[in-house]
Amino acid sequence: MSTLWVGTSWKMTKNLAEGRAWAGGLREHLEGSAPTGVQPFVIPSFTATTTVRGILGEGSPVLLGVQNAHWEDAGAWTGEVSVPQAQDAGAQIVEIGHSERREHFGETVATTRLKVAAALRHGLTPLLCIGESAAIKAAGGSTEHILEQAAGALEGLGTEELSRVVIAYEPIWAIGESGRPATVEELIEPFASLGRAYSDRVTGILYGGSVNLDNAADLLGIEHVTGLFVGRTAWRLEGYLELLRIAEAHAAR
Ligand code: PGA
Repeated sequence: MSTLWVGTSWKMTKNLAEGRAWAGGLREHLEGSAPTGVQPFVIPSFTATTTVRGILGEGSPVLLGVQNAHWEDAGAWTGEVSVPQAQDAGAQIVEIGHSERREHFGETVATTRLKVAAALRHGLTPLLCIGESAAIKAAGGSTEHILEQAAGALEGLGTEELSRVVIAYEPIWAIGESGRPATVEELIEPFASLGRAYSDRVTGILYGGSVNLDNAADLLGIEHVTGLFVGRTAWRLEGYLELLRIAEAHAAR
């Protein structure tokens, strides 16, 4: 059984004091090693990257990420952060193509492809987010849509490069305050399709969208799900620690 990746993006939440408290609490709890069979990761805002890196320490069992990065290494791109800059700040993962970035900031399949390539070029793990809207789901196009998003972003990668990619399937209708948790039944077909296409070829295929302490174990039980990518439930450290416990118990089965 593959390692279960369980992590959180803080999105645009937490000031430095709050970030320090969360990261410090996690470090204390883990005492230098990850739960067996689980790969924890945290993706703070850019302003907290070096702070969280410092608290977790070099060689931490918790991987650190950024929520976006530009595809160019440097240049006149006001407001952007490059992969080498993210790496310099201690990041090991680059989140790419979250639906909030696709919806509000013009992220496209073409830009996700450039960003995946940039992350791989510098040895960082691309965490590629894909997911369909409620309208696409209602029209019966979910699977086709997410396979297109994935294929477009991963086009042209060799076997070794692809093996370093993590995919997160996050249906837009299930994300955030306005989302509703997906049922296990709704996720079987998308994960079967993603599994057929990618399960032996990438590092992991995670589920995200209203993951909570009541549904986490069931979600991990879906075939081809190899981890959870979590927002709100993990923003409280206690919630995140409980998710790690649930994943550890699942990995031990
Ligand atoms: P949520 O966010 O867990 O708060 O629904 C999930 C996500 O956007 O990754």
